[in-house]
Amino acid sequence: MSTNCGRQGMIGQEALLLQKKAMRIDILTIFPEMFTGPFSESIIKRAINKKLADIYLHNIRDYAAGKHKNVDDYAYGGRAGMVMMIQPIADCIEKLKSERNYDEIIFLTPDGYLFEQSTANQLSLCENLILLCGHYKGIDERIREQYITREISIGDYVLSGGELAAAVVTDAIIRLLPGVLGDETSALSDSFQDKLLSPPVYTRPSNYKGWEVPEILLSGNDKEISLWNYNQALKRTEERRPHLLDE
Ligand code: ADE
Repeated sequence: MSTNCGRQGMIGQEALLLQKKAMRIDILTIFPEMFTGPFSESIIKRAINKKLADIYLHNIRDYAAGKHKNVDDYAYGGRAGMVMMIQPIADCIEKLKSERNYDEIIFLTPDGYLFEQSTANQLSLCENLILLCGHYKGIDERIREQYITREISIGDYVLSGGELAAAVVTDAIIRLLPGVLGDETSALSDSFQDKLLSPPVYTRPSNYKGWEVPEILLSGNDKEISLWNYNQALKRTEERRPHLLDE
């Protein structure tokens, strides 16, 4: 699936450096409190404080028109489980779209396209994103047809709702924004950026109860150390994610 955010002809990092405006992410959910923990710590907190990212939480229930503020109803056709209704979600999306343009309106769902590092890289080039969290047996298909530009699954397992998936996607995107990570933690050296898992890492002491750090890492020979790291990364990738080597 393509995105409107990439600037054609540029490689990822060049394009990243050109982006200046804070990225805005609007999250539509019936459980906004679920994001309080993940978004008030560590990297995401730092990105928000440095004004590199803005995150807005919208409670879908606030948009429910009925007296009882219902956001779900029985499925047509007698299928078991409740379905999230069109009206509250549509009204919330329409309001946001009337205020600014969105690069993507993303639905988190176990039947979406698998979220990978390359997806995070692409989305990190966007300015405005909407993330819609589903619940129950899903959302009315017409929302997907009319508004959603991309459907994302974070893995082949079913969560109770899209909130944790939205938090995962938000974290993976925000840590890539220029200025969020320092040089020492640069996202460029992450697992997956070069389609290899990371090699093992060690810190002091070099000998703990007889458990020794590989001698090569203490040798000071940068060339040999790079080669060792590469071989370790390759070995780990072959063992644990061989499909990455075929791509
Ligand atoms: N909602 C429930 N399970 C999910 C998953 N695996 N990925 C994304 N959204 C979900």
